[in-house]
Amino acid sequence: MRDSDDPKETPQSEERVIVVRELTKIFKDFWGRDKARAVNRVDFEVRRGEVFGLLGPNGSGKSTTIKMLLGLLRPTSGLVEVLGRSPEEVSTKSRIGYLPEESYLYPYFSGMETLDFFGKLFGLSASERRVRGAQLLEMVGLSGSQTRSVGEYSKGMQRRIGIAQALINDPELVILDEPTAGLDPIGCREVKDLIQTLARRGKTVVLSSHLLADVEDVCDRVVIYYGGRVHAMGELKRLLATPGSLRFTVPTMSRQAVERLISYIRSEVVDAEIEVEAPMQDLEGYFISVVQRARACEAETAGATAGRAVADYLGGPTEDVGRRKLLDRLMHAEVDTGGAGGAGGAEIQPQAGSVEASMGARDSGKGSASGGAREDQAQAEKAAERLRELMKGGE
Ligand SMILES: Nc1ncnc2c1ncn2[C@@H]1O[C@H](COP(=O)(O)OP(=O)(O)OP(=O)(O)O)[C@@H](O)[C@H]1O
Ligand SMILES: [Mg+2]
Repeated sequence: MRDSDDPKETPQSEERVIVVRELTKIFKDFWGRDKARAVNRVDFEVRRGEVFGLLGPNGSGKSTTIKMLLGLLRPTSGLVEVLGRSPEEVSTKSRIGYLPEESYLYPYFSGMETLDFFGKLFGLSASERRVRGAQLLEMVGLSGSQTRSVGEYSKGMQRRIGIAQALINDPELVILDEPTAGLDPIGCREVKDLIQTLARRGKTVVLSSHLLADVEDVCDRVVIYYGGRVHAMGELKRLLATPGSLRFTVPTMSRQAVERLISYIRSEVVDAEIEVEAPMQDLEGYFISVVQRARACEAETAGATAGRAVADYLGGPTEDVGRRKLLDRLMHAEVDTGGAGGAGGAEIQPQAGSVEASMGARDSGKGSASGGAREDQAQAEKAAERLRELMKGGE
């Protein structure tokens, strides 16, 4: 969950990038009878610089909402306004980046050709396509695989090239349908860092995901769907707050000191449930440490590598060094390879030296632009046609 108190962290404005009112989509059958009420009188707004999450079980209407935000599906009734206009206008579409839930990549294009192709659809010049393509491939960790056909990419690698493609036009609004689906934990972490970076650069991000931990890490506000209706909406901080309890994290203390502390707390808060525990790092952090060590030992991989810093051309202020997260850290941090040394052999200690205490009613649930020969116009047109069909998803 992003810390919205820090204005540097979240350059949100009051400008409403998305306005949805009474939005309804009913899919009809061949005879015009209602088949599925996919979205039912939904209202929400998204402001510039926000990361907004669409949550809900399978079939609850998230992707249908996204397709209406993109102008790919026409609402049965209600209003949808994106960047102050109808999403069906071409000028609106060019300001949006979209990662669909299903991969729609042209399998015979290489990674670089894929980005070049999408750059052409947005009317970018050859030199812009080259610069942006190279930066994006580096950013998503696919520079080493840029000449391989995307049909050969693993699922996670396809997700990564899809994310790069969604950013080729330097969009103001980025809509990501299940961005972390199929990604390894490092890829997930990178995508989450990327989403936060985009938001700090003033982009607005709307995403849908079933991975609640990911949503919790990046979203400012969420909406929770069930059966096409909104059942909860608001700031994550507020939705998840558990009033009535406090948690302290302090360095390890002697048993006597802990007992003195507890008896002091008991004298202040009679009958309170007090928990004392040694905090553990989460599995994501542990996994990333192990892989960092494997990389430091130069283990080979034919898959995606760690992405690098965010592509320079993506607008907004660049990061100050202190704020760089895993994207940079994985590549630049000096990894301590001493001791046990091998990948997976190193035992990472839990965060020793600290004790966490909580009290109250709280639950303690613990290259180059394109490859010449294949860049023929007929093929590009065929791919564009196929792309249009797939993106439409059938109404
Ligand atoms: N083209 C379509 N024709 C008919 N019904 C559709 C169509 N697209 C979606 N639906 C129906 O609309 C409902 C919402 O689907 P949607 O794809 O929006 O769900 P979702 O929340 O994205 O689910 P998931 O988490 O599985 O991706 C479902 O009942 C689905 O069957
Ligand atoms: Mg969906």
